[in-house]
Amino acid sequence: MSKIRALVAGNWKMNGLLQTLDEARAVNTALRSGGQAERVDVMICPPAPLIHPLAQSVGDGPMQVGAQDCHAQASGAHTGDIAAEMLADAGAHAVIVGHSERRADHGEDDATVAAKAAAAHRAGLTAIICVGETREERDAGRTMAVVEAQVRGSLPAGITAANTVLAYEPVWAIGTGLTPSEADVAEVHAGLRALLVTLAGDEGRGMRLLYGGSVKPANAAALMAVPDVNGALVGGASLKAGDLLGIVGAYD
Ligand code: PGA
Repeated sequence: MSKIRALVAGNWKMNGLLQTLDEARAVNTALRSGGQAERVDVMICPPAPLIHPLAQSVGDGPMQVGAQDCHAQASGAHTGDIAAEMLADAGAHAVIVGHSERRADHGEDDATVAAKAAAAHRAGLTAIICVGETREERDAGRTMAVVEAQVRGSLPAGITAANTVLAYEPVWAIGTGLTPSEADVAEVHAGLRALLVTLAGDEGRGMRLLYGGSVKPANAAALMAVPDVNGALVGGASLKAGDLLGIVGAYD
């Protein structure tokens, strides 16, 4: 089995205006002149109104453009929602589904997340499916049980190494500056890899498994070196070109 190509994906959440795209353009320019793009895929998932202008300005890359959510249906009477087909039309390559902030703020359950991931596949997008335990669940020793149940419920039929990325994001590590120990990340990622192989065989063996939650330039190299960590989903540190490039630098 060839080595899994890493992915560093930035999730801007509800941050950024048109002028913030200068940071993304700076990353794209640096990737063009540096050698990192030969080793790692780099993606930014901006708020929906910025997807098209970002896709236009990065042109043929190497930066990829993603979205943060989609509706399960392809069209219809769903005011305010966005179909995966529309994201693809705007220039997105991928869409995050099941982020813990959407699970918490919008009551999305595993079945909803699976339907959204299936919609992403239908539209030709890579689904970046997020799972992760809360502080209470970790303290109760339930981390593996919680994330395995989320994976079983949130992955749709037909997952492949190309169309799906799984992101492990402990809820308590998101935006807090806290991270699990490398040993804890290794344990969860090993368990998730075994489950992916059970669910999808060789496709599960080749699927990218990202770690997310307070990834910064200072901790990226150590976290990215953990076995079965194939990249990062980065929130706050993806808004500044220097920070995102610092994280990508873990693959130098
Ligand atoms: P953070 O967010 O890097 O700001 O902790 C990660 C995420 O929510 O994807």
